[in-house]
Amino acid sequence: MTDAVFVHRTVLLDEAVAALAIRPDGVYVDCTFGRGGHSRLILSQLGPQGRLIAFDKDPEAIAVATALAAADPRFTIVHNGFETFAAELSALGVDKVDGVLMDLGISSPQIDDGRRGFSFRFDAPLDMRMDTTRGMTAAEWLATADEADIAEVIKTYGEERFARKIAAAIVAQRAERPLETTRELALLVGKNVRTREPGQDPATRTFQAIRIYINRELDELKAVLPQVVSQLAPGGRMAVISFHSLEDRIVKNFIRAASTTDTLPSWVPVRAADIAEAAIKPVGKAIRGSEEEVAANPRARSAIMRVAERTAGEWKGAQ
Ligand SMILES: C[S@@+](CC[C@H](N)C(=O)[O-])C[C@H]1O[C@@H](n2cnc3c(N)ncnc32)[C@H](O)[C@@H]1O
Repeated sequence: MTDAVFVHRTVLLDEAVAALAIRPDGVYVDCTFGRGGHSRLILSQLGPQGRLIAFDKDPEAIAVATALAAADPRFTIVHNGFETFAAELSALGVDKVDGVLMDLGISSPQIDDGRRGFSFRFDAPLDMRMDTTRGMTAAEWLATADEADIAEVIKTYGEERFARKIAAAIVAQRAERPLETTRELALLVGKNVRTREPGQDPATRTFQAIRIYINRELDELKAVLPQVVSQLAPGGRMAVISFHSLEDRIVKNFIRAASTTDTLPSWVPVRAADIAEAAIKPVGKAIRGSEEEVAANPRARSAIMRVAERTAGEWKGAQ
């Protein structure tokens, strides 16, 4: 199988790039290059002085991005987690940026390439790392983690009611022989999930949970958001596309907190001009894929995008 077989259909392509309100000579960051759907549209709207820096953890995404960087001097790719945002921009000599896009989660090639171990639809080594060059695989973690930690991960990141039963079964199984493949895990989970959710494989929640844990997806999201606000120039926009409620909650709560200034009781006599401006303001309501997009691309069904704009207000860091 070659990588060319696997394509990624970009979600909310026009909406996300429009939300950034691109200035042709601006500096933009795509935190999740994937196969470059958003990046290419951003580049097409940049002039010769514009610049785009992208991040990805996945070596296959990096290979595609490296070819793009060789062909377009305005584009730079960083092979690192986006939680290194501020440090990597500083290493590139970039101080302020005019817009940041995040299209979270995994790409279609990652899930459709059975060899990556993300999907119970294929039998493959239980890997699930976005960055296959470093870190612990799902199999390694399941072979060594405490039962209580496994249960906690499956419960919290998978919102799985049968998390404790599944964790106990994993630990009982590994005493004989550790789980090595996606099929082994899917079968074991299937035996321990009592109720069936319509249209959903019983292993869906457990696979999602382990993937989020192995890739530190929510921790990295929490870590990057304050860095983005800190590097955005006034008027610069951030657009974040989430694919499940755990991610969206983090984004929604962050935007709410960072766009609220300390509120004073109404009887305190202050002039409007004396109230500090919040560092960001939300732009419009959350955006979902259109009916047409969802019909053409089922991945768009759960997508939700939130946009915020940097103001001239002081950013005091995560509150
Ligand atoms: C949904 S895809 C992005 C697709 C892209 N917008 C496109 O149009 O092709 C998400 C990508 O982000 C990468 N990714 C996810 N979390 C990351 C993180 N914390 N740091 C860097 N890359 C990450 C994944 O490896 C994947 O390639």
